[in-house]
Amino acid sequence: METAIQPTWLSRLNAVWAPPTVLDFWLSRLNPLWSWNQARARVVERRPEAEGVATLVLKPNRHFRGFRPGQHVNIGVEIDGVRYTRSYSASDMPRADGRIRITVKAVEGGKVGEHLQTIPLGSVLSLGQAFGELCVPESAPCLMLAAGSGITPMLALVNAQAATGFAQPVRLAYWARTRAELAQVGELRALAAGHRNFNVHFVLTGEAAQAVDELEGRIEPRHLAALVPGNEPAHVLACGPHGFVERAREVLSGHGLSFQAEAFSPPPRVIDASDQGHVRVTLLKSGRTLDIARNKSVLEALEEQGVMPRHGCRMGICNTCACGKPSGATRHLHDRSVQHEPTQALRLCIQAAQSDLSLEL
Ligand code: FES
Repeated sequence: METAIQPTWLSRLNAVWAPPTVLDFWLSRLNPLWSWNQARARVVERRPEAEGVATLVLKPNRHFRGFRPGQHVNIGVEIDGVRYTRSYSASDMPRADGRIRITVKAVEGGKVGEHLQTIPLGSVLSLGQAFGELCVPESAPCLMLAAGSGITPMLALVNAQAATGFAQPVRLAYWARTRAELAQVGELRALAAGHRNFNVHFVLTGEAAQAVDELEGRIEPRHLAALVPGNEPAHVLACGPHGFVERAREVLSGHGLSFQAEAFSPPPRVIDASDQGHVRVTLLKSGRTLDIARNKSVLEALEEQGVMPRHGCRMGICNTCACGKPSGATRHLHDRSVQHEPTQALRLCIQAAQSDLSLEL
């Protein structure tokens, strides 16, 4: 349900003026890559990598500020008239020509991953600035654990280590259900063959191990003997679905010097019967008032009402959806902690409304 409130003269003026938006419209008519202030990128290469996995090379415009190996970017694409944004990791280290490589897996029901598998060369995508903290600590062995799409930031980190000759030992274990789903196997095996300080194991959960660098089964303590010879302490980096990352944390507990983790699927939400009902949200910039559900993220609840806030990862990592909340209480969807204080950066994708709210939207 929606109630309109009278916009102020200032918001009316902004709505009409909006110079970057107007300029962007005309600039993109001349060249879709041109923009007043938005990072965009053209797809300049596309190749199949493995079953349901494609690698794209993107050429960004001058607004993209670059990335570090291990970081992610938000990619925006329009499909059937609807704009979608999803986060992808760079799967190679930064290149001298400024281009960025991403490796995209098509997941069931995932429109964007599916669309990018066959996107025509020359297409222009919107591009967010890079984010993410994964990095290889210096001066100790590093154990990288990747499952499924979690391999992509590891590929960028491995390639960056390769560029400096693997000054410290790096061991990579890469989980997938079948061999056909493994990406960049030849590239990784070639690196392992050429560098004494790098080794890779492919761990299959749906097929039997055959090659000498293959193991099988979900992550268990028994894998450590093969992955960490002599039980030598290492810095551990883990990336994969939430369940994989948490299991890796358990298995490695007490073995690692440090543990960095990034999950590309969110932890389960904790929602109960007390979260039923609606609350009233006032959107201060647009001057709208809406009633939204309390049992879903504020982002989803607003989208349901036709309001489309900026977003990327939809799981609390990229900060794209963060907006000011001058008043009201929200509840974290994963640990149920309640936040009453005003904030400048409420992440709409992982918070549910607990009471009536005002938002800087
Ligand atoms: S969309 Fe990434 S933090 Fe909310």
